[in-house]
Amino acid sequence: MKRRPIMAGNWKMHMLVAEAEALVKGLVAGLDGTEDVDVVVAPPFPSLHPVGRLLDGTPIALAAQNMHWEASGAYTGEVSAAMLLDVGCRHVIIGHSERRQYFGETDETVNRKVKAALAAGLDPIVCVGEVLEERKSGRTWEVVGRQTRKGLEGVSAEDAKRLVLAYEPVWAIGTGETATPEQAQEVHGRIRGLIGELFDDGIAQGLRIQYGGSVKPDNVRGLMDQPDVDGALVGGAALKAESFLGIVKF
Ligand code: PGA
Repeated sequence: MKRRPIMAGNWKMHMLVAEAEALVKGLVAGLDGTEDVDVVVAPPFPSLHPVGRLLDGTPIALAAQNMHWEASGAYTGEVSAAMLLDVGCRHVIIGHSERRQYFGETDETVNRKVKAALAAGLDPIVCVGEVLEERKSGRTWEVVGRQTRKGLEGVSAEDAKRLVLAYEPVWAIGTGETATPEQAQEVHGRIRGLIGELFDDGIAQGLRIQYGGSVKPDNVRGLMDQPDVDGALVGGAALKAESFLGIVKF
């Protein structure tokens, strides 16, 4: 089955509004419309609204980097799925390793967010990935399998069709050290197998699994050549129009 590639730029905590607008204008101008790829950008919260306006009527979709699972209420500092939809988001990144490492996200909070996003109508990009010690001690699949299973607990087969997964080995994020295409493929293949067990084979074959961790224009091709790699979640190289477009046009 041929899956449509999906390339997402995770801008993390970078870009003031004017910078975000300039970047997205560069991206819109640089896409020539022939790319058979879904393109997504995930600016920080303050830029979602202005960037969303600029993306209106363009092929680029807007994503948030996080959300809260409650619909509304006394949750100081949090943002709901409805608020993200309101400013034009189609996707939300959930369970990024930086959120797990620095902000106390657990498999349980990831699961709550995934279910809330799906219920509200946002399509989640769910991140999983092992840290270096886990890989070194041969526990990569134990960790990635658990994160996937728990993160998707209680999701219906119908909703699972709207998911994107992102395999991001934590040791490869922002380090310049990319997983080899073979290392990525091994984990992607196992994730797809697990999705087949949790849901069914049709859903597994349709699910898009991105790779993330130091993806650059010059290494994206080798990754995308792997049968189970369907896109990239890009940090550093998504902050310049030229390099992100190089990835989009792999
Ligand atoms: P990186 O980040 O491309 O800078 O390694 C990827 C990510 O964290 O999504």
